[in-house]
Amino acid sequence: MCGIVGYVGEKKALPILMDKLEMLTYRGYDSAGVAVSENGHFYLKKTKGRVSDLEAIVDRDGVSGTVGLGHTRWATHGEPSTPNAHPHTDCTEKLVVVQNGIVENFWELKQDLMGKGHHFHSETDTEVIAHLIEEYYDGNITTAVNLAMQQMHGSMALLVLHKDEQDTLVAAKMDSPPLIVGFGRGENHVASDIPALLRYTNRIYPLEDGEVATIRRDKVIITNYREPETPRLSPPKVMVINWSPEVAKKDGYEHFMLKEIHEQPTTVNDTLRGRLPETADGMVEIPDLNLTAEEAQRIERLTLVACGTAYHACLVGKYLIEQALRIPVTVDVGSEYRYRAPLIGRNEVMVAISQSGETADTIASMREGMEQGAKVVAITNVLGSSVARLADGVLYTRAGPEMAVASTKAFVGQLVGLHLLTQFLAQHRELPAGMRERLLKMREELWRLPALIERILAESRPVQRLAKAISQQEACFFIGRNLDEPMAREGALKLKEISYIHSQGYAAGELKHGTLALLAPNVPVVALATQRAVYDKSVSNVQEVLARHAWVIGVAHEGDERLTDLVGRENMLTIPQSDDWLAPVLTAVQLQLLSYYTALELGRDIDQPRNLAKSVTVE
Ligand code: AGP
Repeated sequence: MCGIVGYVGEKKALPILMDKLEMLTYRGYDSAGVAVSENGHFYLKKTKGRVSDLEAIVDRDGVSGTVGLGHTRWATHGEPSTPNAHPHTDCTEKLVVVQNGIVENFWELKQDLMGKGHHFHSETDTEVIAHLIEEYYDGNITTAVNLAMQQMHGSMALLVLHKDEQDTLVAAKMDSPPLIVGFGRGENHVASDIPALLRYTNRIYPLEDGEVATIRRDKVIITNYREPETPRLSPPKVMVINWSPEVAKKDGYEHFMLKEIHEQPTTVNDTLRGRLPETADGMVEIPDLNLTAEEAQRIERLTLVACGTAYHACLVGKYLIEQALRIPVTVDVGSEYRYRAPLIGRNEVMVAISQSGETADTIASMREGMEQGAKVVAITNVLGSSVARLADGVLYTRAGPEMAVASTKAFVGQLVGLHLLTQFLAQHRELPAGMRERLLKMREELWRLPALIERILAESRPVQRLAKAISQQEACFFIGRNLDEPMAREGALKLKEISYIHSQGYAAGELKHGTLALLAPNVPVVALATQRAVYDKSVSNVQEVLARHAWVIGVAHEGDERLTDLVGRENMLTIPQSDDWLAPVLTAVQLQLLSYYTALELGRDIDQPRNLAKSVTVE
């Protein structure tokens, strides 16, 4: 997954490109580069390393060109190196290309081009695109891009600039990687993501699969490389984004992750607002979901599909929906779903969950579901993302841009989204005795969540103290039952992905089936015990662990006694009293803080942990 930026206007392009790349470093940061049209040639600089390394070698003020493009990379083909950094050029060095994604048939194309005399300087698939466009260029860069796109297979977003058409940027999209046009006054912008545009404009158009944008300072023409002869009749539908540029900054927090953890009360409020009535008797409204009352009533099965943290939200959703609505729920990771020959039943709805809305495996799972006739809705955080545009209906999590690689506020938004979905479906279906009353009461509890989260955030000294101790450990286990089980997995993922401490999340009842062999004196075990129906069993699992002299950190409701007596008050993280079904939202906050402060103690690169990117837009 990489970051792409472009600018066509009247100002010096280089400073604008560099500022935009800085906002996209979370999309990829193993190499970076820029190219600006300058007096008939390109001012081109690229380097291995981060955008800050590129900043060190460019002459920000010495380049007057007003058209250019830039790239920050997360390697997929070819190791991180300066030759493999983008932009790439053709043999004549008359054109430059940057790309995000994968050209699946790049090898065959490269052999063919080499046979025609083309010479290559990198191992990347992107350089093949440059030579392919060179092969087709005959005075019109858009036509050449169209022809090149028709030859390629894969999933990509690219930007092209040609010396002979220095006032024109061409952007093209195939399949999932995002590419967004930003409309300015006397200038136009392109970027892989909204935060890079916000300083310049809030009027955007996300390209659709197959679309090609020919961008000049005074106009943008959208065509489709699959039907190049049919120019777009209407101007592109401009979306207005109400994210302020400040939202995309750190607001004084040391890391985006901590800022985003603290934004969760707002995320909950914003995600509920306009959908969940503040009175018990109102109707839940989620118009974008595009699910009718009749469809809601008819659903016989739900399939929830996602990756990583979003997958853990699906697992929480399974417990919630099956217990509340008695609808069978299948849950799958996106990378497995389409390869297991899934069976889509009658009246089945797929719910795809994705913060970025660009995760390739999740998108591919949606396509599989659609091909088999399922209605596919999405819970996602990014307006106009590939997932949002592919789905039949969308429930946006309204968490605002999530910049840290570790997903926090979006995860809580996903949990709230699943509660909204449950409430929405419940109002159109028969329910078990007493369930309607419980769900109506739950509505009040959902509106109380922001205040409950604030209470956890206001008293983080216990978790900071425990984090310091965890940071000395080689490994850490998380265990839980029922809705605590997916939260054990999520806690382990959070800890491992930013502290690099080996962590595993388990069903507490599973320990004796093997994992107990790993427990030895002082090995830390975070034991979640928020689910009242299985509290006794959770406590007995803790006793098993203590019998091996492991170190147990308990997570339970305020006022807990038995677990607290067992592990000691100094080893407790508590959450405010709430309905068990809401406990995952509160537990999430404690576990996010535990991982954050552990990683902080270890001096990790918390917002951009090694080997990881914010959104995995390739398989
Ligand atoms: C979460 O902390 C990770 N960064 C990762 O597991 C992430 O949740 C996963 O890649 C899915 O991303 P998405 O929600 O954007 O689809």
